[in-house]
Amino acid sequence: RTLRIGLIPGDGIGKEVIPAGRRLLEALPASLGLKFEFVNLRAGFETFEQTGAALPDETISVLKSDCDGALFGAVSSPSTAVKGYSSPIVALRKKLDLYANVRPVKSVRSPGAKQIDMVIVRENTEDLYVKEEKTYDTPEGKVAEAIKRISQRASSRIATMAGEIALRRQKIRAAGSPSIHTGPLVTITHKSNVLSQTDGLFRSTAREALAAGRFSSVTVEEQIVDSMVYKLFRQPEAYDVIVAPNLYGDILSDGAAALVGSLGLVPSANVGEGFAIGEPCHGSAPDIMGQGIANPIATLRSTALMLEFLNEEEAAALVYAAVDANLEEGKLLSPDLGGTAKTEEVVQDILRRL
Ligand code: NAI
Ligand code: MG
Repeated sequence: RTLRIGLIPGDGIGKEVIPAGRRLLEALPASLGLKFEFVNLRAGFETFEQTGAALPDETISVLKSDCDGALFGAVSSPSTAVKGYSSPIVALRKKLDLYANVRPVKSVRSPGAKQIDMVIVRENTEDLYVKEEKTYDTPEGKVAEAIKRISQRASSRIATMAGEIALRRQKIRAAGSPSIHTGPLVTITHKSNVLSQTDGLFRSTAREALAAGRFSSVTVEEQIVDSMVYKLFRQPEAYDVIVAPNLYGDILSDGAAALVGSLGLVPSANVGEGFAIGEPCHGSAPDIMGQGIANPIATLRSTALMLEFLNEEEAAALVYAAVDANLEEGKLLSPDLGGTAKTEEVVQDILRRL
């Protein structure tokens, strides 16, 4: 099988870590029978300054018509609004209907420490992010309102994806990968005690989707979002797969990332029907760019995550294992993890383990 992968480095350290993702794909064992072709594509603030568009039409059309997946680095956003500029990743999610944002959060195994190994599955297309807001005057002053839209269709497909991820994780565990979890678990997060219609619909639709026969081995539970935050901080080891509407998912996934130390470790994927974009969770890190010390692991894990959603689970598992082995040995770590290794040394160590 040949996969065509779009490479969108973006700005700052995106340019230093996305090439590592490409090298990882090229270094996968030939026995997997996978070949890769790469297409270099542009997006980001530098692209905006050069072309007037943060996300050139060509990038979208090539991704749509000519790619199986993509890797996206990071883009810088100006701290004050710049006319004509808006975030390319948000636009990409919309244009390609990448309806799920998937973020695994995993701690490094070490004796005595609490282990964290969870995936947050965030609905990516609706909720308050439909951005239908208005402001009007009243005798008591201005009032602003925003629409929170929840649909059965979006809730059902995101819950189904969460169930499938839980099954896939269980399969990897069953194949001998050490894990703190004994069985697949999906936790539905919502606030339906207050928002009985919107979050109520999310809750009941997710329940229904996860009641499907093929999820019979998956334990399904619920958490109200505020108590979810409490438990996430107190007992992060208890969670396997968490599914949430857009806003709660956004907040929970950044919070969960903080539990494992460095942003340089945390991957994500934007997933649609038959298409996935791997994207490290960090930004363009202007404070360390150009020094060759960015941690490449978030990108390497994002590359594996992309492979998972392109149904190349075996290849993905090899990458996760190689990254875990590097971290557990702890000899070649980048400065964000307290080490002195350069990006290049970390990449070489992980490729060698592959
Ligand atoms: P950031 O994630 O770029 O950096 C936060 C801190 O984490 C910095 O100290 C940075 O050096 C460190 N860090 C991040 N990734 C690292 C890595 N791989 N290895 C080692 N250290 C790493 O977030 P910040 O500073 O808030 O934003 C910088 C720029 O990035 C802004 O223009 C922002 O808009 C943009 N940004 C873009 C995102 C994206 O493209 N998805 C996400 C977050 C921020
Ligand atoms: Mg966020």
